[in-house]
Amino acid sequence: MPEIRKASAAQEGALRRFYADAFPERAAFLAEHWEWLYRVGRFPGIEPLVLVDGERVVGHAGAIPVVLSHDGLQHTAIWFVDFSILPAYQAKGHGQALTMAWMALCPRRITFCNDLSMRLFLKIGWTERADASVRSLPLELSGPLARRYGPLAAAAGPALGFGARALVKALTLGAPKIETKPLPLDAGGLAERLDDASAPTRVVRDADWVRWRLLENPRREEHVLAEAGGVSAVFRLFDSLGRKRAHLLHVGPGPAPARAAMVKAFARWALDQGADDLWMAGNDEALLSAAAPILRRSRPLRYAWHGADTALLSVPLPTQGIDSDHDLMFP
Ligand SMILES: CC(C)(COP(=O)(O)OP(=O)(O)OC[C@H]1O[C@@H](n2cnc3c(N)ncnc32)[C@H](O)[C@@H]1OP(=O)(O)O)[C@@H](O)C(=O)NCCC(=O)NCCS
Repeated sequence: MPEIRKASAAQEGALRRFYADAFPERAAFLAEHWEWLYRVGRFPGIEPLVLVDGERVVGHAGAIPVVLSHDGLQHTAIWFVDFSILPAYQAKGHGQALTMAWMALCPRRITFCNDLSMRLFLKIGWTERADASVRSLPLELSGPLARRYGPLAAAAGPALGFGARALVKALTLGAPKIETKPLPLDAGGLAERLDDASAPTRVVRDADWVRWRLLENPRREEHVLAEAGGVSAVFRLFDSLGRKRAHLLHVGPGPAPARAAMVKAFARWALDQGADDLWMAGNDEALLSAAAPILRRSRPLRYAWHGADTALLSVPLPTQGIDSDHDLMFP
């Protein structure tokens, strides 16, 4: 009978093999960096759980701890991420058992998840909220056309891509001039630009968070800090599965028009960098509305929460692409 253990109690080779089976595209990154990703050791007692059969890892429930602030008080919560049971072990109750054990790690639980896991979570008392989405725009179209309609359709890619780029250029004509630079190493200074301390409920983006999510990120070099109109933002440019991706990860606090203008500035920057795909995520209405005419594809995100602390958990939590593992899911 498989048993549940902390990930650090699994054999390293067994964890590596599980990542290769369950998350093949991200396996190399996870095997090397899982302790960074899940902030192991930073929040005592909180780390991913694994389902082990003999010494073989056959299931995994990842946890990313985060500090939430509500009405001036701070509380630890955990994001449920990288939840998977190997096919031979599915539909036997292991997913539910692992979820219950995972929930015992921390009394405040939040997640973005898919239909399969949402079905399980709703059965054990989680509450769903639908206020977040992903917005994106492909500028290189040969690849997507070939995948969807076959190799012949790829021939239309260059012309359609040219049209898409011309449209982004036109839509971003009035974008503010931004300065981009590598992330500064001053975690406290960066936190001040990114954390909106005036929000009644928020993810606390203090120096500790900045150090983990940005400065100690194994792929830190792919990030830049952008500034315009008194607003700071974090963009990321990287190669993933053969495509050059530009992600708008986070827009810090500031006047609403300057925050919305940052979305335009991001799109223009991504175009100038030769990006194949533009992407952002979250539930910030001002940012999503500004993005709608440019990043025309929209996909809803399923969010759910669980815990007795309903005053904190039942109110909308402002999120952006930098939260949970949205951006980190891209290999
Ligand atoms: C989502 C996932 C982790 C669920 O794991 P699981 O071990 O299959 O979950 P459970 O066995 O607890 O529940 C799944 C189903 O099996 C049923 N079940 C539980 N014990 C059972 C048993 N002994 N016999 C038959 N069915 C059983 C459950 O009632 C449930 O049925 P339902 O979907 O009709 O409600 C798994 O499907 C998975 O790894 N999927 C691929 C990765 C993925 O999508 N992860 C979520 C990312 S957000």
